[in-house]
Amino acid sequence: MQTHEIRRRFLDHFVKAGHTEVPSASLILADPNLLFVNAGMVPFVPFFLGQQTPPYSRATSVQKCVRTLDIEEVGITTRHNTFFQMAGNFSFGDYFKEEAITHAWSLLTGSVDDGGYGIDPEKLWATVYLDDDEAYSIWRDKVGLPAERIQRRGMKDNYWSMGIPGPCGPCSEIFYDRGPDYGVEGGPEADEDRYIEIWNLVFMQNERGEGGAKENYPVLGPLPKKNIDTGMGVERVAFLLQGVENVYETDLLRPVIDKAEELTGSRYGATTAPTCASA
Ligand code: ALA
Repeated sequence: MQTHEIRRRFLDHFVKAGHTEVPSASLILADPNLLFVNAGMVPFVPFFLGQQTPPYSRATSVQKCVRTLDIEEVGITTRHNTFFQMAGNFSFGDYFKEEAITHAWSLLTGSVDDGGYGIDPEKLWATVYLDDDEAYSIWRDKVGLPAERIQRRGMKDNYWSMGIPGPCGPCSEIFYDRGPDYGVEGGPEADEDRYIEIWNLVFMQNERGEGGAKENYPVLGPLPKKNIDTGMGVERVAFLLQGVENVYETDLLRPVIDKAEELTGSRYGATTAPTCASA
C-alpha cells in the first residue's frame, strides 16, 4: 500500500467517525520553546490547555514533524527519520481511552476492502503505563488482545509530553512484530527493532512543569478536560505494509536512493555503514 493511500485511509477512517480533517500546520510555529513542530498535537496545544475553545471536538490530521530528540538515531535504526509525517486523531474533552484504542485497532486490523490496513492482529502488541489498569483492561477485555502481548512500562516510554512544559499524560503504544529474523522474543520491552512502534495513543490529562525531556519532571494538576492525542508514524506503517526493510526504502524515499545511485555510481547496500556499536 503506497504512502499516500495510508494517509488517505487514516483521514477517511476518522472523518467517518466524526472528526474534522485539519491540514498540516507549518513546521515552524510561533512557539518560543519549540524549534520545529515535533508532534501532530502541537498546533492544538491551546485547546488541550483550555486557553482556546476548539471549533470542533474531534480532529484528524497528517502533520509534518521534525523531532530533534531523535536525530541521533537517524541512520542507525531502521525506523527513525529526520523529517516524518505523523497521522493523528484528537479528542478535545470528547471521547477518551476506550474509543481511542478501539478506533486505532479497527483501522489497523480492518480489511483492506473495508478501508483498513489489513494487518494481522496476531502481529500486534500494546504497552500501557505502569498503573493504567483501565487501558490494560480495554486492550484485554474489549479488544481481546492476549494478556501476554500487553506490557506495562514506565515514565520514559509510556508517559508522553512534548519534552517541555505543557499538556501530558499516560500513553499506550501499539507495536508490530516483524518476526524472529529481526530480534529476540519478548515484546517491545525486549527489542524495539523487532517490535516496531507504529502508533502512540496519549491520554492527555495533566500539565507538566520544567524538567527532563522524557522523565524527571513534575506532573502538575489536571487539564480542564480529558483529551486524546494520537500519533501514527506514516513512514513506519508504510515500510511494514510494503514489506521493505526500513523507512528509507518505501515508495516515498526509495526514489531518492535510486537517484543517488545513478548520480554516484555506487550501489545502495553494497557495503554496510558502521553503526554506533561497531564504530
Ligand atoms: N503526541 C504523541 C507522540 O508524538 C502522540 O507520540
